[in-house]
Amino acid sequence: MDGKKFEYLSVSDAPRIVVTPPGPRSLEILKMQEDLESSSVSYPKGMPMALERGKGATLEDVDGNIYIDCFSGAGVMALGHGHPEVLKAAHEQIDKITHTLDIPSETRMKMVKALRGILPKELSRVFFGGPTGSDAVEQAIKLARFNTQRYGIIAFEGAYHGMTGASLAVTSDSGHRDGIGPLVPGVQFIPFPYRYRNPFGCPEEMVDEFAAENLERVLDDSHSGYSKPAAVILEAVQGEGGTIIPTPRFLQRVREITKAHGVLMICDEIQCGLGRTGKMFAFEHAGIVPDIITISKALGGVGFPISAIAFREELNTMPTGKSIGTFRGNMVAFAAGAAALNWMVDNQVPEYAAELGEKAMARFKEIEKNSKILGEARGIGLMIALEIVEDKKSRKPATDLTKMVRKLAHQRGVMIEVGGHHNNVARLLPPLIISEDLLMKAADVLEGVLKELE
Ligand SMILES: Cc1ncc(COP(=O)(O)O)c(C=O)c1O
Repeated sequence: MDGKKFEYLSVSDAPRIVVTPPGPRSLEILKMQEDLESSSVSYPKGMPMALERGKGATLEDVDGNIYIDCFSGAGVMALGHGHPEVLKAAHEQIDKITHTLDIPSETRMKMVKALRGILPKELSRVFFGGPTGSDAVEQAIKLARFNTQRYGIIAFEGAYHGMTGASLAVTSDSGHRDGIGPLVPGVQFIPFPYRYRNPFGCPEEMVDEFAAENLERVLDDSHSGYSKPAAVILEAVQGEGGTIIPTPRFLQRVREITKAHGVLMICDEIQCGLGRTGKMFAFEHAGIVPDIITISKALGGVGFPISAIAFREELNTMPTGKSIGTFRGNMVAFAAGAAALNWMVDNQVPEYAAELGEKAMARFKEIEKNSKILGEARGIGLMIALEIVEDKKSRKPATDLTKMVRKLAHQRGVMIEVGGHHNNVARLLPPLIISEDLLMKAADVLEGVLKELE
């Protein structure tokens, strides 16, 4: 593979740290934010800085530090910051028209056509239900309930689907769920095949099979306490839950079981979709087609907020105006998103992500072998995770150490995300156009940080 293919899009000599972050200008802005915004602001607590500009897989803060971005604004910036062709499409659109609700335009149709070009033919319908990923999840659940006239939803432990009503109800993390009163009812959780923290006590290689069998059991057994649900919702690769990668067979079994029971299968592709795992959609690794999928994050090209669901023809039953909303037609997002999707296909970005991901995993596996606190490095495409533990034998999650990994990496010019059941997973979601050189430099930095923390 040519690891320099997209090098021209980024600053090649990153990272460049001129003052340990947060530098003086960043501190001023951070203080203003702390004084005036909500206490729930989160990312600046883990990576304190104020940002100035971005270029490809690199970001510059207001103090002149340049970072390798292995975070992509939570997986949004698949083509990196300031992608020239995507920006050109956005600039052209912004002078024409920016908001049309769902009244069509050529630009909107460009987006629909670009999506058509990458979706399986069975998912023949798309719906833009609101700007955020959570909106897409709400729409997917609403569509499943409307079509089945059933209410229940089965979701998985470790799932992250959003922060609004039903999307929060299918998100498992009690840190998000607790203390705000009753959530949307009807949701029940079952274990996801998380091999490193085996929820079944079976041999590790059988975890996926056990997880699928458990789904079958709760649907089959009239004493399981699970009434027949409208849908099963899952991420084909769990993101915030710690980059948990099931086997293709697990996804195939979920497809078979849901079909046999007349239950809809919703795949949330908001984080793992659009090339992230080395295929356009993560469910494609299993050769299956779900009934409904959700798409967002990278869909807006360079971070313009937009989301969509795609679904099978037979679910296209909602009467006119059944599900409405103001922000369902951001023309700039459509223009940028269509340009981004077309560029992604023309430049074989998912294939590049798959190949670079393999090289990166070879490097991270080597780091795992030599580290006392890197319990497991795992990844698929450019969705990579380092699970940090107190020691490899006990596998006890090392939450504070993981915070330190992020802090020290940031100070040395590499931005990462933290997630996982115990907030002990250092997560890398670099732009898919990151060069091999920048990604390997990021790996070197992380190796140094892990060594220091041992
Ligand atoms: C898999 C998945 N679904 C849904 C969402 C929610 O998207 P948003 O934050 O845009 O509402 C996220 C966000 O990280 C996600 O990773």
